[in-house]
Amino acid sequence: MKELTISATFRIYEQLSELPSAVFSLMEFAISARNNAYAPYSKFNVGVAILLDNGKVVIGSNQENAVYPSGLCAERVAIFQVGALYPDRKIKTMAITATSQNHKVVEPIPPCGACRQSILEYETRQDEPIEMYFMGEEGAIMKSGSLSDLLPLMFKKSHL
Ligand code: THU
Repeated sequence: MKELTISATFRIYEQLSELPSAVFSLMEFAISARNNAYAPYSKFNVGVAILLDNGKVVIGSNQENAVYPSGLCAERVAIFQVGALYPDRKIKTMAITATSQNHKVVEPIPPCGACRQSILEYETRQDEPIEMYFMGEEGAIMKSGSLSDLLPLMFKKSHL
């Protein structure tokens, strides 16, 4: 019997002003993308901004549906849009922020498991890590350097 220990390191920025300026600008796109969330059921608005290697920014927000599972998270709305519009570009950075119509979101909101799996597909495809910064509405911002830190023991195409 052997044991495997997996560890990951995340950066924590106490406030927006501590972010590198390009990331601060990207987070501002994500904050404004929250306004386009269609979240009448959860009242939880998520905004995402993705920076590509050509400097373009692609945004997304969660889009809900009366048939609940037919809705989609902001991260997948954004990353699938990158795949559809810019299939040959590399993704450098993702910024994610969430707010609630019911309460103040003060802790960093990481992407859900399904979104991690979807984003991993693009990281594997481009063979370069995707940096991710995520926050609530205010408070700390967390940075992950790669999807492999957020999704250890991941399933990927090499397993097929
Ligand atoms: N949501 C996201 O957009 N991203 C996540 O990673 C977690 C959850 C959305 C889905 C749904 O519209 C609402 O937040 C509540 O789950």
